[in-house]
Amino acid sequence: MTHCLVENPAVVLDELRERYANEASPIPVDFRQIVPHLRDDAGLNNLHTYPAKLLRHIPQFFLAIPELARPGQLVLDPFCGSGTVLLEARLAKLQACGADSNPLARLIAEVKTTPIERGRMNRGIRRLLARIPAKSQIDPPEVVNVDYWFYPHVKRDLLRILEAVRATRSDDLRRFFSVVFSRCVRRVSLADPRVPVPVRLRPSRYPSTHPLRSKLEARLRRLRVISVERVFREALADSAERLTKLSGLLSDPPGIVHISEDARNLRLDNGSHRPAASVDFVITSPPYVGAQKYIRSCSLSLNWLGLCTPGEFRQLEDLNIGREHYPQASYQNSLHTRIDGVDILLDRVRQDNPLRAHIAATYLIELQDAFREIARVMKPGAYMVLVVGNNLVGSRQFETTRYAREILEKLGLQSILVLADEIRSRGLLTKRHHTAGMIHREHVSIYQKGVP
Ligand SMILES: C[S@@+](CC[C@H](N)C(=O)[O-])C[C@H]1O[C@@H](n2cnc3c(N)ncnc32)[C@H](O)[C@@H]1O
Repeated sequence: MTHCLVENPAVVLDELRERYANEASPIPVDFRQIVPHLRDDAGLNNLHTYPAKLLRHIPQFFLAIPELARPGQLVLDPFCGSGTVLLEARLAKLQACGADSNPLARLIAEVKTTPIERGRMNRGIRRLLARIPAKSQIDPPEVVNVDYWFYPHVKRDLLRILEAVRATRSDDLRRFFSVVFSRCVRRVSLADPRVPVPVRLRPSRYPSTHPLRSKLEARLRRLRVISVERVFREALADSAERLTKLSGLLSDPPGIVHISEDARNLRLDNGSHRPAASVDFVITSPPYVGAQKYIRSCSLSLNWLGLCTPGEFRQLEDLNIGREHYPQASYQNSLHTRIDGVDILLDRVRQDNPLRAHIAATYLIELQDAFREIARVMKPGAYMVLVVGNNLVGSRQFETTRYAREILEKLGLQSILVLADEIRSRGLLTKRHHTAGMIHREHVSIYQKGVP
């Protein structure tokens, strides 16, 4: 198992800093070239799909620089999603904590960072498989448009497996089985696997000669006779292999990863507020304005696992920074971000599209709240790596990187380096509002909290 990757990451960082000091504009980089060999993670980061996952190269690079983070120290990702940073932190022998408003993201991140020793895993799997009943006795969970998304035999089989998963007594094993179950839900559904937000497979959308038409027709034929139990067993074996292979590394240093529900309210395991100045290093990629439908893209799994009912989607979405849905009455009055130039820009956007202006203003106001909380828990002198891209709002340039910098500087964090990396594939580019633009370049900015 390799531990690092780049020959001397601290030297690379120094060179980039020097160039930035001379050029005073973002330095173009390609993290895939800076970190040509990724640490072996046994495929654990891909245990479950998640929209806009962070490129693993980025945390691997920064976590290998002793000036930023040293083994045993505490790393925070306040928008942790499926836990890419938390997993890399654990593999680099650091403690990790995070936050995410999506309960499925929290579940995946927790499972990926909780070691389960191979013998216990094998016994747990044997018991689980023996428990799958021929006919389910439990009430089906409330799943949005369930008959639209699942064939009847698939629905029945999912329920039988769910009954066995739910009956698992150990929390860590039950959570692991739940993630494997969630992996299968999407796979056996009638949702198009190429689109993050569920869209039903419809071969007739393509002319009869189009190659996708026959591909989608074949998929539908397979789904009509699919053995859900076989899909589950295969996913179980594969996922167990990934997790148990790393179990030794994940348990050293010991300690559980705590994940809060909201970046604006970081907590400890016992529910109390995370103390001020308790975090050594932050790496995060916050949500983009109006860019991702994190809750909608996970809706089938969220419902099947009972993490929320269809009636609770809106409530969960309301916690989402960057969300797009607001009742008309809420965007009649303008909100003030107090960020240089933004309120004037949004006044112009508002003339054409008051909803887009409201989405952007709310986003920046909520991001400020989150940054305030993050700055509060950082130790003086600690560093923060922020991965964020600029895009368009109402066809106008929306410079998230600059706005983030202004907010963070007011909170006492100083910008020390800005890098620009091309996004090639992060499952990010779902079709968004036509005025929102495509994000194709991300800024990776480094800040340091001032020492009083
Ligand atoms: C760009 S994604 C992070 C992806 C993550 N780095 C990964 O590799 O999977 C942004 C995340 O912010 C989360 N989010 C949105 N609003 C939040 C809030 N108020 N508190 C915490 N997380 C939030 C979303 O659910 C989403 O998972």
